[in-house]
Amino acid sequence: MVFEVHYRTHTCGELNESNVGQQVTLSGWINRRRDHGGLVFLDVRDRYGLTQVICDPERSAEAYRLASELRAEYVVQVTGTVVRRLPGTENPHLSTGAIEVVANQMAVLNPSRTPPFPIGTEVARTATGGESVQVDESLRLKYRYLDLRRPKMRDNIILRHRVVKAMRDYLDERGFLEIETPILMKSTPEGARDYLVPSRIYEGEFYALPQSPQQLKQLLMVAGMDRYFQIARCFRDEDQRSDRQPEFTQLDVEMAFVAEEDVMALIEGMLIFLIEKTTTKRIKERPFPRVSYKDAMARYGTDHPDLRFDLPLVEITDLAAAGNFGVFKSALAASGMVKGMRVPDAAGYTRKEIEELTEFARMLGAKGLVTLAINATGEVKSPLTKFMSHDEVQAIITRSAGKPGDLLLFVADSAKVCNDVLYRLRVKLAERLKLIDPNELALGWVVDFPLFHYDEDLQRYDAEHNPFSGMDDAHVSRLEIDPLNIRAKQYDIICNGYEIGGGSVRINVAELQHKVFALMNMSDEQIKEQFGHMLEAFEYGAPPHGGIALGIDRLIMLLADEDSIRQVIAFPKTQSALDLLMGAPSPVDDKQLRELHLQLRPEEKK
Ligand code: AMO
Ligand code: AMP
Repeated sequence: MVFEVHYRTHTCGELNESNVGQQVTLSGWINRRRDHGGLVFLDVRDRYGLTQVICDPERSAEAYRLASELRAEYVVQVTGTVVRRLPGTENPHLSTGAIEVVANQMAVLNPSRTPPFPIGTEVARTATGGESVQVDESLRLKYRYLDLRRPKMRDNIILRHRVVKAMRDYLDERGFLEIETPILMKSTPEGARDYLVPSRIYEGEFYALPQSPQQLKQLLMVAGMDRYFQIARCFRDEDQRSDRQPEFTQLDVEMAFVAEEDVMALIEGMLIFLIEKTTTKRIKERPFPRVSYKDAMARYGTDHPDLRFDLPLVEITDLAAAGNFGVFKSALAASGMVKGMRVPDAAGYTRKEIEELTEFARMLGAKGLVTLAINATGEVKSPLTKFMSHDEVQAIITRSAGKPGDLLLFVADSAKVCNDVLYRLRVKLAERLKLIDPNELALGWVVDFPLFHYDEDLQRYDAEHNPFSGMDDAHVSRLEIDPLNIRAKQYDIICNGYEIGGGSVRINVAELQHKVFALMNMSDEQIKEQFGHMLEAFEYGAPPHGGIALGIDRLIMLLADEDSIRQVIAFPKTQSALDLLMGAPSPVDDKQLRELHLQLRPEEKK
């Protein structure tokens, strides 16, 4: 590749022994300057690497004079001759480590203020395999353009580009068309809260930013486009977490004439392709294992389990009814459950370690942790022994597959609390027991979701995924009589404990789609107002179709070994949805509000 442009002949990562003797011009930032009394050494940096430049007053008095004035992050242009480094001074960590450039001309293209956090020393440290320095995240976000100069961030952005490029190539080869859909859309409930955009032309009316292109991609299937994808920005005004952003990016896919297996096979092939192409990570198991929603909840307490390690959960509700243990009894009396896990070789955990785990469980909502340690000789130490017979305790040990040396932990509470606590405890213990290989990706499919769950707060059925998911053909008749027992044609893809994607084969028949909306307690008028366009489209020959969306930010986060999606987004919002660089959101002036026919409610004005 040729990078020669007006200000340079080569990049700072390009020169090697084959260039020795050439006259070159480099442009970049001052990574470091070392004054060796009589000689100044400069490390000049750009996206591609570092090159050592020597300023020798005997070669160029002017370059030497200027070099003495340079500070970190100044932008310079250097012209000089490539020479081989003296034996013993080569740097094996740098692609340019065999050479250096002896300057005969130097120009400062732009000076720099002292950056608010170190960049150059970080580049030097990580180049030799060192850890990156911790810098306060809000400072990094305010000066994101400096943060992105740091090597790990630069690498994350490059990885992101390569992954998205691999997706495009893979899909293009298989006949997919990349089609853009609007950002100004109609507000339709899709689970999260919409971001709204007031209309200037139509007083009192609003556009909404899309939570996903779901409806439009289905309409593209009705339009006969057959295979669609888009790198789509989605907007959801929901509570933020480390794996959520108010705006995030999906690889959005839809295909006509497909069943579940077709979409899953495509995505599985694509993920293997792009992981192999862009990383050195190992995929734990392929074909990707499948787990039913029900088994995932039972075995792991979550529908996005981390499959890198085993540590299954066990339910002992039936066994807990025996004996007279108050903690168990009161949970059962409140129709709760007792569930726990076996922690191999942890019988020797100290009281302090147990207290830490108990505190962790309490923080997540448990009332405590019941422990049962089986020491090397098989002797049992547990509060249970006081309230249960030997056989009753043994039955619990057998169910939990407990062996000498193990520790068993149990939570007694509602199913929700038991699962929430144990799913996180499982991960924490896997970390503690060093069961996680950081270079491994455990991908898997979660299938056999129910079409609906019952939302106690709203007192109505709600779609488990979205209201467009199709259902097992044999279960359609249950819509009227047993809606909670309908299997959805839905699939989620998980990786290392994160849901990285989800989709379904859709409903393509207006009458059936109408029934689903009606079950969700929508009136005919509401259905017509919000989804009339979809139902109408389905009456013009909507082909069978299905699709999926992958959370690109989450996927790249996992590929880049990061634990927050902010690390792989060039300009993310903070956890509290602020843009610290530009300063958004921000007040607007009255004129703008008036044009939009808006007035702030005084009590909400800050
Ligand atoms: P869903 O809502 O499951 O499906 O979203 C698909 C994937 O997008 C990612 N994701 C997010 N990533 C970052 N920040 C967020 N706030 C956020 N919300 C979701 C997740 C998730 O798995 N239209 C359907 C897809 C379909 O049926 O085809 C949809 O949007 O990784
Ligand atoms: P207590 O009855 O509060 O003295 O608790 C006795 C033991 O049971 C302590 O180790 C608590 O951590 C544990 N414990 C209390 N409530 C629960 C619960 N709902 N589930 C699991 N363990 C509990």
